[in-house]
Amino acid sequence: MDAIELIMKDHDRVEELFARFKGGGGLTGLVRRVTGNVPARERRTAVEHICRELDVHTRVEEEILYPAAQATADTEVQRLVAESLAEHTRVKEHVAWLREHHAEASDEDIDARMSALEQDVQHHVSEEENDMLPRLQELLSESDRASLGRRIQARKRALGERRVARTQRGAPRKRRATGSQRGRKTAARARKSGARKSGARATSKRNKKARAR
Ligand SMILES: [Fe+2]
Ligand SMILES: [Fe+2]
Repeated sequence: MDAIELIMKDHDRVEELFARFKGGGGLTGLVRRVTGNVPARERRTAVEHICRELDVHTRVEEEILYPAAQATADTEVQRLVAESLAEHTRVKEHVAWLREHHAEASDEDIDARMSALEQDVQHHVSEEENDMLPRLQELLSESDRASLGRRIQARKRALGERRVARTQRGAPRKRRATGSQRGRKTAARARKSGARKSGARATSKRNKKARAR
């Protein structure tokens, strides 16, 4: 599958998981949120899934997509990759905190952290879908995108298998290594991206349709 399609599918999946954490979408989800009727187990499972998805997604982007983007030598893409890496650092900090504390932290603390994470992810996804991915769509050939897509899928499978093997061995879940984060500047506070988000979605749906034709 085309690498850009794969990345956007991941984004959709993460968005869906955030909705699940809040009790689901639609009117039922809204009622459950307002009445505080989302079971603790469901919230905990959603947090674990979100952390896992973001962990794998940021890895495949950093290991495969971003290096391919940098190899285009397009200055605008290089700038966007640098910005994205800084934003990933923020996302990873939230994920590390959630993995370490979500079992014992208060609901209020989890809600605050999840809300900050969702806001940062929305902002980042919006920039990728509005700026970086459309540019890569132009710069990379269809066969390059397909080959990147195959590498991304293979890497995701390998990361998934490694996780299953670790779970079967019963090894305690470790906090994600932060070595790659050392030395990087903390990203500037991500601005709220609600308005851009809807624009990004519209753009990505249009792009999806255009690619389907
Ligand atoms: Fe990213
Ligand atoms: Fe992404």
